[in-house]
Amino acid sequence: MKIGFLASGRGSNMQAVIDACRQGKINAVPVAVVSNNSGSGAMERAEKEGLARYHLSSVTHPDPADLDRAIVEALERHGTDLVLLAGYMKKLGPATLERFKGRILNIHPALLPKFGGPGMYGRRVHEAVLAAGEKESGVSIHIVDADYDTGPVIAQERVPVLPGDTPDSLAARVLEQEHRLLTATLGRIASGELPLP
Ligand code: GRF
Repeated sequence: MKIGFLASGRGSNMQAVIDACRQGKINAVPVAVVSNNSGSGAMERAEKEGLARYHLSSVTHPDPADLDRAIVEALERHGTDLVLLAGYMKKLGPATLERFKGRILNIHPALLPKFGGPGMYGRRVHEAVLAAGEKESGVSIHIVDADYDTGPVIAQERVPVLPGDTPDSLAARVLEQEHRLLTATLGRIASGELPLP
């Protein structure tokens, strides 16, 4: 299984997956990273790891259809089987969605369908969880469709909200669980234990 990443930011989930592949915990090969942000942590990590890197954005491709095609081409060039959105902040275009239908996964730092959708990303998710007085939050991994955070959930793990939590303390606890659930889930997918629908 060849994994291609789309990442906009820090890239810690991407790194956890790369490490797990290198350690043989996921029977897969990380092949390429596409980022809309040329200075992102994800791009720096990709360079250190010797992965192919592509900065593809509305700056490099002002026409959305061109950008969509360029993303497909970059992923195809490396024989990508599975696309992982690891903190990718942009919506995918129809060509990418069609070419990798059912083979694009996203990780979200809450228990979907709660606290997902447009505008629910990063710190905002954890602020909303705390504002709602939730006793627990968690991590969701889902198959990506044309909307934000709406495709079928394939793995979920709960994380407690503790008294005195701030968005940052909750985010840190959730992030640890993200790395664990993501690597475990990809391990199960790669071994055939968790077939994608
Ligand atoms: C994670 O919280 C992930 O769930 C969300 O974006 C964040 C990305 O963090 N989709 P990182 O770039 O993997 O460190």
